Amino acid sequence: MQSISNPALTTGNLNGLTLKNRFIKAGTFENLSPNGIPSVDLLNFHKKFAHGGIAMTTIGYCAVENAGRLNAHMLTMHEDYREGLRDLVRGIQDHGCKVSGQMGHCGAFSKNHTLKGRPKGATGGLNILGFAEGMWLCDAMTLSDIDNLVDAYRDAAIFMKSVGFDALEIHFGHGYGLCQFLSPLTNKRKDIYGGSLENRLRLPLRVLAAVRKAVGSDFPILGKVSMSEGPRNGIRYDDSIKICKALDDAGIDAIIPSNGTSTMSPMLMFRGASILPALLRHEKNRLMRIILRLMGRKMFPSLPFYEMYLLEQAKRIRDVVKCKMVYIGGAASASSFTQILDAGFDFIQLGRVLLADPDLPQMLAKNPNYKSRCTHCNQCVGTIESPQGIHCPVFFNGAQL
Ligand SMILES: Cc1cc2nc3c(=O)[nH]c(=O)nc-3n(C[C@H](O)[C@H](O)[C@H](O)COP(=O)(O)O)c2cc1C
Ligand code: SF4
Repeated sequence: MQSISNPALTTGNLNGLTLKNRFIKAGTFENLSPNGIPSVDLLNFHKKFAHGGIAMTTIGYCAVENAGRLNAHMLTMHEDYREGLRDLVRGIQDHGCKVSGQMGHCGAFSKNHTLKGRPKGATGGLNILGFAEGMWLCDAMTLSDIDNLVDAYRDAAIFMKSVGFDALEIHFGHGYGLCQFLSPLTNKRKDIYGGSLENRLRLPLRVLAAVRKAVGSDFPILGKVSMSEGPRNGIRYDDSIKICKALDDAGIDAIIPSNGTSTMSPMLMFRGASILPALLRHEKNRLMRIILRLMGRKMFPSLPFYEMYLLEQAKRIRDVVKCKMVYIGGAASASSFTQILDAGFDFIQLGRVLLADPDLPQMLAKNPNYKSRCTHCNQCVGTIESPQGIHCPVFFNGAQL
């Protein structure tokens, strides 16, 4: 009997960029750029997905400036790194895979010891990521800091296009810098950047406009958002529909509706087994280990995993925007991929299943009943601090590179 090919294996188009299938490797910070320098291991990491048939991979967390890095081992989109980044992007493209760069800024939380002064975000206070390492506090951005931040996104976008990236993904979610402005929980400003949703959207929309102006109308820009933050008074599902509508009206090409934040509610992003054991396995800082032991169970509860766990909420966004939609969150089998595309989504981003099955598109082409072997145990999440870079310890045991 002839097998019927999965619709996710058909070509797609994103603002003029042809993608050979509907699969995009999700941004997963690789931890393979020691001191911010792109390594051969980083190239090899992405080449695996290129060889496996992914249409476009995403270089995780490309900081738009030094002050946007969570730690000193993250990439910075700056002239100093032009050659290394150009070789990285070309090296992946040479294997038939497009390359997107996730534009990130950490805002108010950082443990980047190369930072001069305190990290700055929407509101000042405790630097929740850095305090265990002696970087106690963060400051609220002044109006001129905000103007400088918009310029940093603009300059990074010009730079990233010039080194050959095929697309840019602006990170509006997961509690990072732009999300801190969107969230009523972290944005307590009294000026035109705080208060109403219209005001909280002002900086993210300025950033989108600056990036669009920098790259032109015919260059793909994606945006990753968090549909909800979890804690009371944070972003809620209903707010995110309005946020996505505003991004759509402002000319974004595609929205990736994720969930939760990295610090307050990562389990909403992942579901599955608690990430606490994996974090404890890799955390070196003694104070942070104590905090994790005291508060980790409450902060990172196991949540039952089920496939496509964000689909119902993501569909509410699909219903109100005209731009392309990229599904993310627990897409793990041939039948999921079909259902997601049937629900009106254009592309599918894959995170963990690709760490377990880097050649997923090829496997799907051979097996129309493909189901990922990923168990959603979340051990890979802790490897974000691993000197070997992120990997799936279940199936590769650290020997993936
Ligand atoms: C090891 C690891 C690192 C991640 N790093 C990032 C990141 O840098 N930026 C981001 O937006 N999401 C990051 N994520 C979240 C994924 O992009 C994705 O939203 C999440 O894993 C859910 O998708 P999945 O069910 O396909 O894994 C990371 C996930 C993992 C497992
Ligand atoms: S460690 Fe491996 S099996 Fe577990 S969630 Fe990550 S990719 Fe999946």
